[in-house]
Amino acid sequence: MRFPKSLSSTLPLSRSLSTTVVRAAPPALARTPEAETPNQAKTAAQWADFGRSHVSHGLGRLRDHVIVKGQGLELFTAEGKRLLDFTAGIGVTNLGHCHPAVSAAAASQVNTLVHLQCSIAFHATYLQLIERLLPTMPHPSLDSFFFWNSGSEAVEAAVKVARKATGKQNIICFQGGYHGRTYGSGALTRSKTIYTQSTGALMPGVFATAYPYWHSLGVPPSTSEEELVRLAKHQLDMLLRQQVAPQDTAAIIIEPVQGEGGYVPCPPAFLRHLREVCDKHNILLIVDEVQSGFYRTGTYYASEHTEGLRPDIMIFAKGVANGFPISGIVSNQAISAKLDPGSLGGTYAGNAVACAAGIATQEVFETEDIAGNVHRRSEQLFTALNSLAMGEKTKHLICEVRGQGLMVAVEFRNGADPLTLEGVPAGTQIPKNIGKRVQDYCLEKGLMVLTTSCFDTIRFIPALVVSEREMDEAMGIFKEAVEKVALEG
Ligand SMILES: Cc1ncc(COP(=O)(O)O)c(C=O)c1O
Repeated sequence: MRFPKSLSSTLPLSRSLSTTVVRAAPPALARTPEAETPNQAKTAAQWADFGRSHVSHGLGRLRDHVIVKGQGLELFTAEGKRLLDFTAGIGVTNLGHCHPAVSAAAASQVNTLVHLQCSIAFHATYLQLIERLLPTMPHPSLDSFFFWNSGSEAVEAAVKVARKATGKQNIICFQGGYHGRTYGSGALTRSKTIYTQSTGALMPGVFATAYPYWHSLGVPPSTSEEELVRLAKHQLDMLLRQQVAPQDTAAIIIEPVQGEGGYVPCPPAFLRHLREVCDKHNILLIVDEVQSGFYRTGTYYASEHTEGLRPDIMIFAKGVANGFPISGIVSNQAISAKLDPGSLGGTYAGNAVACAAGIATQEVFETEDIAGNVHRRSEQLFTALNSLAMGEKTKHLICEVRGQGLMVAVEFRNGADPLTLEGVPAGTQIPKNIGKRVQDYCLEKGLMVLTTSCFDTIRFIPALVVSEREMDEAMGIFKEAVEKVALEG
């Protein structure tokens, strides 16, 4: 069994200028259920019924709560139920719900300029956001930006740019990777079949190879990082020799920490190898930081865990504006110079209010000790999870604890998957559906946590401003949940 320690204690603190984390003001709790429903003509239950009838069945949902308010790490339902949010809107509200500085910046922008289509002229907040982001880049060559609305759109832009800049077509992605659900980004998504099943054909010219993760390579969880890297390198080499020629390959796209694939950090040695392969064959390295960026893993971008890594194109979204819809790609000037004006664009791309929120978000990163808090809470989280993974009552349930910063997962054992049973004495009864049962118990107790990947995994992505007390509360509920499943069998 492998229980990697948090990497956070070794992370640089250079970007934290002060030692305090300012939290949003506590929510005003005085409410009646009716007063908080979207429209007082319906009760919360009636609104939930309405949603079930009129929201597309194609949208999955954890629960049918109607959420009416969010503050910091707390969400409140129309019935006034408090939920401790360890999902952060899937890694988006990194500064907590409704951070006062971000909300104030957006509110002020609403009265100044809401929309200016980016193909008509520059607008001030677009340029100011670039100015703010430039010094945060993991490599100084990254200095030509294009903003879009969602992560998937930015992924598609990155593919378009890579194809145009190289004059080549094929893209290599990784098993377990997630890059979105549109036809281009969905073609690169390999974390679960549900995202695209029965809806093909997807974008052509995509090839997948193994990620340096034991599931992907079919080896036991205790396999050393060195061996995982060796095996994944071999698979990539085979792919380039047997399936897709380097001279036809435009780009390799990778998440430095796989998100929907199970919160699996990529070993730096493998990322360095990809850089070498790309340099050798004139292939572009696209690093997808949509989920891992903006201090989620303890550094501004997860790429920084691999010293000197130089992405040719980096994709960002989610945490950049703490909940306002904006994404982007950034490349070097040589790549940018190959693009035809007009080939990129979109009506709402780089919306002025979202840009203002993005600027305020970067200001908070500069002035509050977000990195320090991520380090401390990450240690606390890993300590709690590792103690469960080693605890007498629960160790037969947990296969691996992994992640970086506050992008952390627990993978449970699965009786039908022998790889996950490593180290368990023969004949041990492994409960079924552990993750789902643990998640349900947590939700009942007011803790929102998400599962992830096609394996039995629960992930923890609280806002980066999570307090020691909130982490304690969450870990208390999680421990109760795992012990309950262990007891019930
Ligand atoms: C790594 C990664 N890339 C791309 C996306 C797609 O982003 P969006 O949902 O904004 O389209 C996601 C979303 O979770 C992601 O985690």
